[in-house]
Amino acid sequence: MAMSSLTILTLLALCHSSIAFRKFPEGFTFGVATAAHQIEGAWNVSGKSENVWDRLSHSRPEMIADGTNGDIACDSYNRYMEDVEELTYLGVDFYRFSLSWARILPTGRLDVVNPDGIRYYNDLLDALAENNIEPLVTLFHWDLPQALQDLGGWANPKMIHYFRDYADLCFKEFGTKIKSWITFNEPYEICEDAYGDEKKAPAVDSHGVGCYLCSDTLLKAHAEAYHLYNETYRPVQNGRIMISINSIWYEPSDPESAEQVALAEVANQFKFGWFAHPIFTSDGGYPSVMVDNVARQSAAEGLLKSRLEQFDAYWIQRIKGTSDFLGINHYTTHLITGAGVDPIAKSPSWLKDIGAVTTMEVGGDSASEWLRVVPTGFANLLRWCKSSYNDPPIYITENGFSDYGTLLDYGRIKYFNDYLNEILNVIYDDGVKVLGYTAWTLMDNFEWRAGFSERFGLYYVNITDPARPRKPKLSAEYFKELCATRELPKDPRFFEPSFFRTECRCFFLILIVWYVSE
Ligand code: NOJ
Repeated sequence: MAMSSLTILTLLALCHSSIAFRKFPEGFTFGVATAAHQIEGAWNVSGKSENVWDRLSHSRPEMIADGTNGDIACDSYNRYMEDVEELTYLGVDFYRFSLSWARILPTGRLDVVNPDGIRYYNDLLDALAENNIEPLVTLFHWDLPQALQDLGGWANPKMIHYFRDYADLCFKEFGTKIKSWITFNEPYEICEDAYGDEKKAPAVDSHGVGCYLCSDTLLKAHAEAYHLYNETYRPVQNGRIMISINSIWYEPSDPESAEQVALAEVANQFKFGWFAHPIFTSDGGYPSVMVDNVARQSAAEGLLKSRLEQFDAYWIQRIKGTSDFLGINHYTTHLITGAGVDPIAKSPSWLKDIGAVTTMEVGGDSASEWLRVVPTGFANLLRWCKSSYNDPPIYITENGFSDYGTLLDYGRIKYFNDYLNEILNVIYDDGVKVLGYTAWTLMDNFEWRAGFSERFGLYYVNITDPARPRKPKLSAEYFKELCATRELPKDPRFFEPSFFRTECRCFFLILIVWYVSE
C-alpha cells in the first residue's frame, strides 16, 4: 500500500515538532552571572581587606586543586569595561554579579566605609546602564570579611545585625541603580560546605553542628535584610529582592522502589527545603522531617538537645514570605540508592542526618566530579518547586557546565540546550512560572577549591597572561543567538557534527515507514 501524502505530512509534522523548539514567553529574560571573589582580583588594593577565601587560599594553598587563588583572578577590578563589552556582545538582558563586602566595609562593620569600593561598583553600574544591561546583584556570594569570621562568622548570631547593616549601606548607596537584589547565594554551600565541612572557606568542618548554627543565623539575616528593603527602600526604589537556593536534585535510583522514592523526598527536604521551607511555605520553619531526623539522631548520640532547633513562633513568622521570587541555582541530579548512613558521611553530620545513601552514578559527566548531566532532573525539580511552594515565580539564577577550557565547547552548548529545553517543557506543559534564566558564567574564573582547573565560562580566560585576555567560546555565540531570537538556536554549527542528529533520524524514520508501507 502506498504511503498517503497525509501520512507523510503527519510524520513530517511529528518530526518537526521534536526539533522545532518553542519560543521563550514574552518577558522572559536572559542573563549571565559572576561573583566578586571569582573575577575581581585586586585582593588587597584600594582599601579592600582580607576575606575568608583570601585567608584559605593563602594559608592553605594545598586546599586549592591547582594551588591558585583569587588575587588577580580575571582582574575585573581593573578590566570591568571588558566585561561590559562582552555582556553587550552577548546581548543579555541582565548581568548578575556580587558585591565584595570586604571591599566596601573592610572591617565588615559600618565603622569604616571604603570610598574606593563604593566608586568601583558605581562605575560598573554606570557602564551597565549605558549599555542597557540590568544589574541583578548578590549581596553575599561567600566572601565574608575575615574580620567577621574571626568573630565566628555565620555561627555567630550577631551576624544578623552585621549583615543587615551591610545590606542597609548597599541599598542606600546603590539602590537607585539596582532594582533586583539577591541576599544570599546558595545558603546550603555556605552552611554545610563551609561550616559543616571543609569544602568551602572558611572550612570550619563543624559537621552536624556548625551547619545548623549557620542556617539559623543566615535565614534570620536574610529575613532582616528583606524587611529592611521592603519597608524602607522598596517604597522609594521600587525594586525586588530574593534569595538564590541551590539544589542537587535527588531522585530514586529505582523509581519502582517506594523506600527510595520516600528517601529522595527526605533528601530534597534536607537539601532544598532546609532553606526554601522556612521562606516559601505557608507553615514556615524548617521541614518537619529535618527537625525530626536531627532530633532522633541527636538523642541517639546522647545529646539532651537537638543539634537543629526549630525557629520559635516569632522567627517562623518573620522569615516566612521573605522573597519576591524563588531564585534557583541548579546544575545536577544525584541518586538515592537506599536507607542507611552514606559511606562518605561524617559523624554526626547533615548527610548522616538524612539517613540515605547517595550516588553520583547517573547522567553524563563534566569536568566537575559532582556535576552530572541530567536535564530531566531539572524539570522534575522545577515541577516539585511548583507543587511544594505554592507555585512561586522562579528565576533560574545559575545553571552551567564545566569542562577544561576548550573553545569549541559542544558539551556546554548541549548542556545549555537540553536544560533550557526542559525549562520550555515545564513552562508550556506544566505551567511552572519560570521568568528568567542565568548562565553560569560570563567567563572562566576562580572556581573556589577547584581553582582554575574546572571552567564554566562562555569566554575563555588565559590566566597565565597578565592582560587576562578573554576569548569567546562557541557557547558565547550560542548564547548570543539565544538572547537575540528567544528560542533555542538550531544552527548546526553549534552542535557536534553527528550523522545521527535528530533531522537525520527523522529522515530515516520516514524512509523506513515508506518502505514498509510499499
Ligand atoms: C555555584 C556558585 O554560586 C558559583 O560560585 C560556582 O562557581 C558555581 N556553582 C559552579 O560550581
